[in-house]
Amino acid sequence: MLDPRSEIYPTIEYRPIQPSDLEALEKIHLALFPIRYEREFFLNVVSGHGIVSWGAVDTSRSDDRRDEIIGFVTTRMIAAKDSEIEDLFRYNSSRKDLTLVYILTLGVVDSYRNLGIASSLVREVVKYAASISNCRGVYLHVISYNQPAISFYKKMLFKLVRRLPMFYYIRGQHYDSYLFVYYVNGGRSPCSPLEIVTSFVVDFRAFVKMLVAKFWSKEDHCGPRWARCQESNTLLAPQSNKRIISGDSTRCHV
Ligand SMILES: CC(C)(COP(=O)(O)OP(=O)(O)OC[C@H]1O[C@@H](n2cnc3c(N)ncnc32)[C@H](O)[C@@H]1OP(=O)(O)O)[C@@H](O)C(=O)NCCC(=O)NCCS
Repeated sequence: MLDPRSEIYPTIEYRPIQPSDLEALEKIHLALFPIRYEREFFLNVVSGHGIVSWGAVDTSRSDDRRDEIIGFVTTRMIAAKDSEIEDLFRYNSSRKDLTLVYILTLGVVDSYRNLGIASSLVREVVKYAASISNCRGVYLHVISYNQPAISFYKKMLFKLVRRLPMFYYIRGQHYDSYLFVYYVNGGRSPCSPLEIVTSFVVDFRAFVKMLVAKFWSKEDHCGPRWARCQESNTLLAPQSNKRIISGDSTRCHV
C-alpha cells in the first residue's frame, strides 16, 4: 500500500469495472460502508447490468495488483419523474422523458485518499450524464454524519438541496441524509429573475406552439388535404415513409 509520506505519486488510471473486479469490489464496499450490499448488487455492477461504473487502478504498483481496484463509483439511470426530486424539474413540464444519473456508491481505499481520485471518478460521471441529451443531473444521498463526503460533494460544486429525516436505518438506529444534485444540460431550476422570465417565455412559446398545432389539426380536417400529404412526404424518414405515406395517400386520394 501507499506510504502517505511518500513523495512519489502513484499513476492512477480509470476504466470500467469488469467481472474480474468482483472480489476486490465486495471487499472495499464491506470496509467502507456501514450498509451491507447484496451479492446481486456486485454482480450487476461487474456485468454492467443496469449499472454504469468506473474503477480506479494504480498502474505504478510493482506487484501483481496493478489492475486491482482502489477506487470506484457506481451509478444508475433513473427517470426524473420516478425520482424523489422530480419537483426540481417541474418547470420543464413539457419534457416527460427527462432522466437523472444516481450515484449509488463512491469510495476510495484509505491509503489513496486526498489524491483527487474521487474527484476524477465523479467528473467521469458528470461527463457521462452531460453526454445524454435528456439527462438533467447527477444526484445522491449522503448520511448526515459523513463529513468527508459532504465536504467532498460541496467542493465538487454539488448543490445541497434537501435534508431527509431518518432516511437511513442502520443497526437499529435512524440517520438523516443529505441530498446533493449536480445539474447538467441546463437542468438547474430557474432562480434569478432573468432565469424565471426566460423559463416563462420558453414555456409560453411551447404553449402557443401547442395551440397552433391543435388549431392546425382542426383546420386540417376541413381544409385541403393535399397540402398535408405534401408536407408529410418531406418530413418522414425513408423507412417509415412507405407505411405512413401509403396510409396518408389513401386519405389524400379519397
Ligand atoms: C469521500 C471520499 C470518496 C473522498 O475520496 P478522495 O479520493 O479522498 O477525494 P478527493 O481527493 O478527490 O477530494 C478531496 C476532497 O474531499 C474532501 N475530504 C476528503 N477527506 C476529508 C476529510 N477527512 N474531512 C473533510 N473533507 C474531506 C475535501 O473536500 C477534500 O478537498 P480538500 O483536500 O481540498 O479539502 C473518501 O473519503 C471515501 O472513500 N470515503 C468513504 C466512502 C464514502 O463515504 N463515500 C461517499 C458516500 S457514497
